[in-house]
Amino acid sequence: MSLNGKHIVLGVTGGIAAYKSVSLLRLFVKAGAEVQVVMTEAAKEFVRPLTFATLSRRPVISEFFTANTGEWHSHVDLGLWADAFVVAPATASTIGKMANGIADNMLVTSYLSTRGKVFVAPAMDLDMMSHPSTVANIEKLRSFGATIIMPAEGELASGLVGKGRMEEPEKIFEAVDYRIGTDTRDLTGMRILVTAGPTIERIDPVRYIGNFSSGKMGYAIAENAALRGADVTLVSGPVSITTSVEGITVKKVESAEEMEKECVSIFPDVDVAILSAAVADYRPKNYSDTKIKRETTGDFELELVKNPDIAKRLGEMKRDPQMLIGFALETNNEEENARRKLREKNLNFIVLNSMRDEGACFGTDTNKVKILGKVETIDVIKDLPLLSKKEVAEEINNIVSLYYDWTE
Ligand code: CTP
Repeated sequence: MSLNGKHIVLGVTGGIAAYKSVSLLRLFVKAGAEVQVVMTEAAKEFVRPLTFATLSRRPVISEFFTANTGEWHSHVDLGLWADAFVVAPATASTIGKMANGIADNMLVTSYLSTRGKVFVAPAMDLDMMSHPSTVANIEKLRSFGATIIMPAEGELASGLVGKGRMEEPEKIFEAVDYRIGTDTRDLTGMRILVTAGPTIERIDPVRYIGNFSSGKMGYAIAENAALRGADVTLVSGPVSITTSVEGITVKKVESAEEMEKECVSIFPDVDVAILSAAVADYRPKNYSDTKIKRETTGDFELELVKNPDIAKRLGEMKRDPQMLIGFALETNNEEENARRKLREKNLNFIVLNSMRDEGACFGTDTNKVKILGKVETIDVIKDLPLLSKKEVAEEINNIVSLYYDWTE
């Protein structure tokens, strides 16, 4: 993946998040892209144009003419030059102008002339963000084909907390890199179900059985697939991470039974299911409506009953050419156990995690996996080195892209 040599117009508008665009610019430049920064007048109140000019090694453009030389900046040329037109931060006002063709500044005029891909990273206050006019304008931009990199939740400049904070530069960079760097939209038209995180099984109103799964692997798979054009449903157990990538519908669940219910209803309508959730194998036989008190019990025995095996159930429901990918977390006899799960659950591929590999555990940002499977007579074995979970996600989706409906 590379933005090397790509042309990017970085539109900066007047929001406090403008300072983050400096980092975004640096990421683009480091990746070898040529960047032309266009600022609105208001943006200059937040960051001096000289900062952007120095880092991009090009004068910043914000007016139609350079005042002292009378040189005309052609918005048409700029629009045609751009492979990507990235507006970050995008204020409510600029979003409104872009959505409605109000071309009263260089940024919006260039946008209207752009044939390249458009990316918009909104940043504004909570109430502005949820105002029906902003919502409608964002929807309109989306319908024009723009990629909206939705704001993250967090503390806002106003002191309020909520959705409105511009997404981090790395995330915006990633979205552009995926779309422009590879132009990989190889999963367009595919519907993919991903499960992620742990399931938790309640004992009483304050206690549960759980596990250490962070959800990072599953979220990375869902995000990578969506960025490559897939329509993703992410069934997630309770995790502390969120996603703002477009094209993902998140269904939050708590227990294995809830996860099964969602998956069983979604599976018939998808092409591929990737099951990365760490589903609890057992749940308490009885749930106590009231808190179990220490005084009323001596030694406490918790009776457990078996949870449904979601992978197995989906394996039974699977119809050609649906593809089912599972995970196996093993501590010993890794490959043998994984191959057994592959067979017994009727999976097409299994992603094997060994707890013995360092950096391949719950909660880390890295993973070391082996992907095993069989496509007709071909034995597929991918023994990958230690990679980031994002890279592992990319590898798993490469398998989907390559082998889905292999006979077609
Ligand atoms: N899985 C599932 N439902 C369960 C348990 C596991 O769908 N109740 C899925 C996991 O999401 C994973 C695969 O099955 O894709 C294997 O999970 P793993 O925990 O490694 O295997 P188990 O079948 O639970 O076997 P064991 O715990 O004995 O290793």
